[in-house]
Amino acid sequence: MEGLRFRLRAATASAHARLEAAMDIGAHCTDRRTYRTLIARFWGIYAPLEAALRTVDLGALNIDFAARSKAGWLVEDLMVLGLSLEDMTSLPRAQWLPTIEGPADALGVMYVMEGASLGGQIISRQLQTQLAITRSTGGRFFSSYGPEVGDKWRSYVATLEAFGDSPAIAARIEGAALETFACFEAWLAAPVAATSRVGGTEPVH
Ligand code: HEM
Repeated sequence: MEGLRFRLRAATASAHARLEAAMDIGAHCTDRRTYRTLIARFWGIYAPLEAALRTVDLGALNIDFAARSKAGWLVEDLMVLGLSLEDMTSLPRAQWLPTIEGPADALGVMYVMEGASLGGQIISRQLQTQLAITRSTGGRFFSSYGPEVGDKWRSYVATLEAFGDSPAIAARIEGAALETFACFEAWLAAPVAATSRVGGTEPVH
């Protein structure tokens, strides 16, 4: 039974639509430099958000959060696209992050981070067609778990449903998911100058 997952989907549907618009994937698939600014932007929120999640005790959840970490994939993409590790130290990071005080908040945050892997499948195809970018040539983040996307999503949803079976916990998870979408939207819609270094003079591979 996927009651809570569908409740979250309904509650965040308009936030998802706004985020898709703020992300403007079409405009970021015109050339590799512009695409790189998008990856830098994603890194700027995934890295601090995953760091925040690592500080929370997730022992009550039947989920291997470390195996779902995606910031490293973004680093991989940035390096393939021509940034050095030194360049990355100066990339801006999101300051506004959702409140994560326990496993319920973490599950709400993960709903957004894991759900992005579903849309990632569509984006991967777009990258391949428009920029000839594949999983190993800059598209690691969006290709995500590859053929495992469906299984990973279902196992996350199983954890979500099992842990969120009380109204109070479900409400907490929903609040965290909504706040996370709001953080992503604000961060992705922030002025391009925030990642100007990667859009600037460094060579693009
Ligand atoms: C151009 C950008 C995007 C497109 C085209 C897109 C598209 C999609 C699609 C088609 C699904 C449903 C997949 C399915 O049911 O099998 C989906 C689900 C989802 N996406 Fe996106 N997405 C995009 C960006 C994002 C981003 C950036 C995030 C979050 C950071 C996100 C979060 C989610 C979530 C949480 C779900 C799960 C909804 C559910 O419960 O079914 N999406 N997306």
